[in-house]
Amino acid sequence: MCGIVGCVGRPDETLDVLMHGLSKLEYRGYDSAGVALANSAVEIEKHEGELVNLERAVDDDAPSGPVGIGHTRWSTHGPPSDRNSHPHADCEGEVAVIHNGIIENFQEVKDELTAAGHEFTSDTDTEVVPHLIESALADGASHEEAFRAAIERVEGSYAIAAVFAGGDAVFCTRQDSPLVLGIDDDATYLASDVPAFREFTDRVVYLEDGEFARIDADGWDVSTADGEPVEKTIHTVNWDAEETGKSGYDHFMLKEIHEQPRALRQCLRGRVDELGGQVELDELAGVRPTTVQFVACGTSYHAALYGAELFREAGVPAQAFLASEYVTSPPPIGDALVVGVTQSGETADTLSALREARQRGARTLALTNVVGSTVARECDHTLYIRAGPEIGVAASKTFASQLAALNLFAFAATDDHDREAIGALRDLPSTVQEVIDDSSAASVAEAYHDADAYFFIGRGLNYPVALEGALKLKEITYRHAEGFAAGELKHGPLALVTDNSPVIAITTGDGELARKTVNNVKEVEARDAPVIAVTDGQSDIERYADHVLTIPETQPRTAAVLANVQLQLLAYHTADQLGRSIDKPRNLAKSVTVE
Ligand code: AGP
Repeated sequence: MCGIVGCVGRPDETLDVLMHGLSKLEYRGYDSAGVALANSAVEIEKHEGELVNLERAVDDDAPSGPVGIGHTRWSTHGPPSDRNSHPHADCEGEVAVIHNGIIENFQEVKDELTAAGHEFTSDTDTEVVPHLIESALADGASHEEAFRAAIERVEGSYAIAAVFAGGDAVFCTRQDSPLVLGIDDDATYLASDVPAFREFTDRVVYLEDGEFARIDADGWDVSTADGEPVEKTIHTVNWDAEETGKSGYDHFMLKEIHEQPRALRQCLRGRVDELGGQVELDELAGVRPTTVQFVACGTSYHAALYGAELFREAGVPAQAFLASEYVTSPPPIGDALVVGVTQSGETADTLSALREARQRGARTLALTNVVGSTVARECDHTLYIRAGPEIGVAASKTFASQLAALNLFAFAATDDHDREAIGALRDLPSTVQEVIDDSSAASVAEAYHDADAYFFIGRGLNYPVALEGALKLKEITYRHAEGFAAGELKHGPLALVTDNSPVIAITTGDGELARKTVNNVKEVEARDAPVIAVTDGQSDIERYADHVLTIPETQPRTAAVLANVQLQLLAYHTADQLGRSIDKPRNLAKSVTVE
């Protein structure tokens, strides 16, 4: 949801460093991209559309300077266009500003500035900041004082950075939007996310809300809004720069689907006692919730639905809530542990829901992928899913790792010690590998890539998988797809089913859930809908299916993970056949830092 980047200390390479950083942050938004480099003047180059447009422009006419900032945009205020692209400048072009977030009081500030004679050239909320800075400079403030004065006036969520004509520093600050510094011996970077500068350094400093940083050729310092120095810890990142490349795959999403066995191994390593069949999570020692409320969005919400089911099966009341709904009308919390499931750890809706829960006295737990993310810093406990960096906007390996981590959490925090299920969890990396190796999803996608709509059905733990299958497909193919609890189809959605709307039925095991799902499949088959069965072969669903995507026989909770891999591949290959922009689907961004 907008990516920002900055660099000081590599005077001959500032532009290259910024462009590299933007290429790593493009997953956060691709409506436009721009850079500003400061020397005696501020030189801005910015263009609507993907980064490639900016790349072409700077090839012809490269701005230069020892200090610089860059931005990749996901539009909130004003449509994608050159004029709404960041960086934004003041009337005189003396200061350039980039911003991720939303300035809630921008209209009031803009009206005031306009009345005072400032001329605005964009529809954005961001543009008030350079004009506020300009006003403060006119009143005699220094660059740093002017930056601080402007921030004092704005309300909302932001990671903001500014450079000045004739200045040798970048100033930045954050409130409810991520911002991290990269520390090297002779250069300092800032970014919304570590991949932007991971190639150059593995040492990072996470800024907290309300902190300001000044970066110049002598290094960096962090202070409070009142200017008090803050001593910060330098963390070392434990993953390599190569992990953020495509490694020969056509798309990040395909690479990340294939990385799932490794991601799962990392998630499980040292946490499952192979001999004793026990799960041990040092980070959650003593956490034994009597009730659990999960809050999450999108794919993570589907993982939360799955997690809630695991707890209920273990006898612990649990429910999953959409974070955006929870924040406005939370249920009675009582002594519930409130668990935020969020890959990025920066999703604004999820953070707000957790803050609301904390305000009401709840203890909170973060289930996240990103070390040092806001959610990890704000919650009482954190369980990392350890999937490694995920770049594709459509979540794939992180969903599998969330499901694995939720299993670990449920085993560690309840009396559920089902040895067979723990064994299946331990074997998950190799069973996922089998599914990837043997999948025929590409040929199924070929048969149905032109369908009118796609319906996904499942029961029990396969219900969240059905929802996730549909979300993945709609997200990257732009085709209509819906997931339903299989029993619900006959209560309305069946009216939508035609001979050109495949029904993808996830049916695992041979118990009552499978038997009932097979009945639902017969109902759609009778109405001429093509049926694609995702099955472990234990039920007789194959008799009613036009195509079968097979998974190995396993326990119900791991079967859901395996079935999802087939659905990821189905979505991927369908989108590929349709020629979609798989890693950067239209209108979306990976990390949604606005509510
Ligand atoms: C998943 O493919 C989507 N990109 C989206 O639904 C995502 O899961 C959601 O925005 C939540 O993100 P988070 O896990 O980082 O909180």
